[in-house]
Amino acid sequence: MSEWRRDVRAYDEALDQLGEANSRRLIPTPALVCDLSMLQSNIDRMADGARDAGVALRPHVKSHKSAYIAKRQLEAGAVGLSFAKLGEAEVIVEKLRTDEDHSALSVLLTSPIVGRHAAERAAALAARCDLLVAIDHCDGVDELEAAALAADTTVCVLCDVDVGLGRTGVSGPREALAVAERVNVATHLQFRGVQGYGGHLQHIAGREHRRQATIASTKRLGLVIDALESAGFNVPIRSGGGTGTMGLDVEIGVLSELQTGSYVFMDREYRDALGEDPEGRFAQSLTLITTVISANHEGYVTVDAGLKAMATDAGVPLVVGHERTATYAFFGDEQGMVTCAPDHPFRRGERLELVPPHCDPTVDRYDVIWLVHDDVVVDVIDVTARGRSQ
Ligand SMILES: Cc1ncc(COP(=O)(O)O)c(C=O)c1O
Repeated sequence: MSEWRRDVRAYDEALDQLGEANSRRLIPTPALVCDLSMLQSNIDRMADGARDAGVALRPHVKSHKSAYIAKRQLEAGAVGLSFAKLGEAEVIVEKLRTDEDHSALSVLLTSPIVGRHAAERAAALAARCDLLVAIDHCDGVDELEAAALAADTTVCVLCDVDVGLGRTGVSGPREALAVAERVNVATHLQFRGVQGYGGHLQHIAGREHRRQATIASTKRLGLVIDALESAGFNVPIRSGGGTGTMGLDVEIGVLSELQTGSYVFMDREYRDALGEDPEGRFAQSLTLITTVISANHEGYVTVDAGLKAMATDAGVPLVVGHERTATYAFFGDEQGMVTCAPDHPFRRGERLELVPPHCDPTVDRYDVIWLVHDDVVVDVIDVTARGRSQ
């Protein structure tokens, strides 16, 4: 725990009251709060869903960046973890290894890495876990092979396939075959399959629309798998899927594993898109507590959560318990405006809870998440990989 936090008396007071009734009211704001029962039921629901469907689950850590939550996901049956960045994987693997022996932890890096330094870090990481790296270019294969050779280690490779998002991935079978063939001649790499993540599909509202788009995207992955298998490659791992498409991915049946992330928290953007769809049946476990710092105007108050308190790419948060009567608007870097109904004015010092619009980049703004059960703070956990974007 960092020094400054020990100096903050409000923080200490809240920590002193861990497990005590009503300790939730002591959390210094703005702060992220997660309902532990909802979190666990989300983790279990996804794990059970994957198990029942016969697909593996490799949850994406980018959503929570927490070793504590990752550990719970593994305990619920995840086959391994997905990470966007080397830095995230390095710190979480280290934390899990020191907690107990997770030396055989299977780790997938879902975003391609570039250059000698990154390849060397990947090779070093491969000594501490079973590492899979998604690669979308032959040069990436060469860089990783050189680093793995120098470190005398083996790194496994998935070919990252662009299934329509256009962000990363090879564009089709020809390019995928080139990557797989290059891996095949490398002495310290092993080809293990493909990754196809349809980020553009996840928030399509209306399950039928989302289904049609997911079918079309998965066809692109299927063409690559067919080409690889026809050329004699084994493609045991077919990783992909997100919270918005998980049920559809399972129905379509091409993926062998899901790399869902947001389901642990279920932010406002996802709730709006998924509604009552099966994919939407996860609880909104994460909220942001904020305090009214000024109430000198009729019709609205000013709270201590502004642009710096949450990601702003997905609109505004909802005010929990006042969804129909109160609205939030950004009111500067450090403040927000919350309108209130004339018959229910908020008071100075009152605490409100917001559902973050987009959980992943919001979580990355906080050192800790407070775990609560109703009004009781039960634990405080580190956002272990906070800021680890390199
Ligand atoms: C490559 C990749 N896989 C999986 C996920 C998890 O998706 P979701 O948060 O929609 O469950 C993401 C999220 O951005 C991602 O980028």
